[in-house]
Amino acid sequence: MINIVLFGKPGAGKGTQADFLKHKYNLVHLSTGDIFRFNMKNDTELGKLAKSYIDNGDLVPDEVTINMLQDEVEKNPQAKGFLFDGFPRTIAQAEALDKFLAGKNQEITATVALEANDEILVQRLLERGKTSGRADDQDEEKIRNRYQEYNEKTAPLMDYYKAQHKFYAVDGIGTIEEVTERLSLVLDTFQ
Ligand code: AP5
Ligand code: MG
Repeated sequence: MINIVLFGKPGAGKGTQADFLKHKYNLVHLSTGDIFRFNMKNDTELGKLAKSYIDNGDLVPDEVTINMLQDEVEKNPQAKGFLFDGFPRTIAQAEALDKFLAGKNQEITATVALEANDEILVQRLLERGKTSGRADDQDEEKIRNRYQEYNEKTAPLMDYYKAQHKFYAVDGIGTIEEVTERLSLVLDTFQ
C-alpha cells in the first residue's frame, strides 16, 4: 500500500496530475478542495459551513477538514493506497493524518511537491477563473490570499516531512506530460 501526499501551491497542478497518477498507480484520489466544492454545489451543511472560507481563499478550520478527510478514507476500505491532494495543509492536519493512518497500521509513503513560481501560478488561476466558476479564482486579491495562507500555514509542512525523510520535490513547470513523467520517476521507486 502506498499513500502519497501531492503537495503544492494553489494552481501548481495537483488535481491535473492526480487524474493521471490515480490510474497509473491504482490509488484513490482524495482532493479536499473537490470534496468541499461538491458539498457547496449540493448545499449540504458541510458545504454551507465551508463556503465563506473557500470563497475568500481562507483555509477551512482544521477540525472540519480532518473529520471530513477521515470519513472519506473510511468510505474506501478496499483502497490499494491513497493520493492525498490538498491535504494536509497545516501541521495539525499532518499530525492528525499520521495518527489516523498509524491506527490502521499504515503511514504516508512520500510527499511529492510540485514546485512553481507564484507569478506563473497566479496567471494560471486568473485564466482558469474565466471559466471555472470558482469564486476563489475570480479576483487577484483572493488568489493572493490563498498564497498567503499557503506561505503561513502550509509551507512549514515541507520541514515536517523532510524531518521524516519523506519529502520529494519536482519541477512543476513544463507540459502536463513532462510533469507526470517527473512525478512518476519518484513514485516508481515505491512500487
Ligand atoms: P483546492 O481545491 O485544493 O485549491 P488549491 O490548492 O488552491 O489549488 P487548485 O486546486 O486550484 O490547484 P491545483 O494545484 O489542483 O492545480 P490544477 O490541477 O487545478 O482548495 C480550495 C480551497 O478549499 C482552499 O483555498 C481552502 O479554502 C479549502 N481547502 C481545501 N483543502 C483544505 C485543507 N486541507 N484545509 C483547509 N482548507 C482546505 O491546475 C490549475 C490550473 O493550471 C488549471 O487551469 C490547469 O489546467 C492548469 N495546469 C495544470 N498543469 C499545468 C501545466 N503543466 N502547464 C500549464 N497549465 C497547467
Ligand atoms: Mg486542485
